[in-house]
Amino acid sequence: MLKTLLTGAAALAISTTIAGAQTIGFSQIGSESGWRAAETTLTKQQAEERGIDLKFSDAQQKQENQIAAVRSFVAQGVDAILLAPVVATGWDAVLEEAKEAEIPVVLLDRQVDSSDDLYLTAVGSDLVHEGSVAGQWLVDTVAGEECRVVELQGTTGSSPAIDRKTGFEQAIADHGNIEIVRSQTGDFTRSRGKEVMESFLQAENGGADICALYAHNDDMAVGAIQAIKEAGLKPGEDILVVSIDAVPDIFLAMAAGEANATVELTPNMAGPAFDALKAYMTDGTMPEKFIQTESKLYTQADDPQGEYDRRKGLGY
Ligand code: AHR
Repeated sequence: MLKTLLTGAAALAISTTIAGAQTIGFSQIGSESGWRAAETTLTKQQAEERGIDLKFSDAQQKQENQIAAVRSFVAQGVDAILLAPVVATGWDAVLEEAKEAEIPVVLLDRQVDSSDDLYLTAVGSDLVHEGSVAGQWLVDTVAGEECRVVELQGTTGSSPAIDRKTGFEQAIADHGNIEIVRSQTGDFTRSRGKEVMESFLQAENGGADICALYAHNDDMAVGAIQAIKEAGLKPGEDILVVSIDAVPDIFLAMAAGEANATVELTPNMAGPAFDALKAYMTDGTMPEKFIQTESKLYTQADDPQGEYDRRKGLGY
């Protein structure tokens, strides 16, 4: 269908757009985490640097707000739409509407269950791989020792919560010494991460029966670290902590010996998205359906204080 965007009147519309400033709508999930804040900041910065008029909408974690925002962008006749979808399902109708209006949609950081002909491209990491990098770190670190793991999941129904769980489980599958004994959502927030960890600690002999925490993002890990300390235990030693994102605060925790490892998710999803849109709008270059960003593992051996210093001013 995307090729059809370049035919006839649509091609004329695109070349007209390139001549003037582009207007791009961005439906953001909310501000549940430090990573999300950085993605918002960087998207606004990238838009400004490129002279793009960015129409920003904060959905406050609600899919219905995102659907309304996308509909409003379509009604306004924007040139393109960036969508960071809070959950994976329920997007078909609104994506069809954008397609009907010949407005390309780029997904940022999370995936949808819809057919991939309903969007131009998706920029993000391999979320299953992120989970498996975290799981492999634990496999290597415990080296055959018994390890009872508690898991803080991300937002229920979101692609990172689903895929990071799958990836971690795949990595530990052949290692009978490692077992996930409790798993619950902490909704990607620091406060819920702390609350849920408190309940895990209570249920697991004050934490004495927990060997490791796997959190689907760093913010939940930071909240959980606080709960572990309040329970009189040493995070990073009594309970290993591995999570995902690589936000500045997890590097501070790593520098203090209170977290052990994190898998990086770049918050600059907008740069590659705008590049893909520019090429598409200039001469119809079709991007790959998935533009993959890197997933690098950081441990306490990777200069956490330096990583904190390098990241702290980047909008997290
Ligand atoms: O979709 C990416 C995830 O969303 C980040 O890992 C998490 O911090 C955010 O809330």
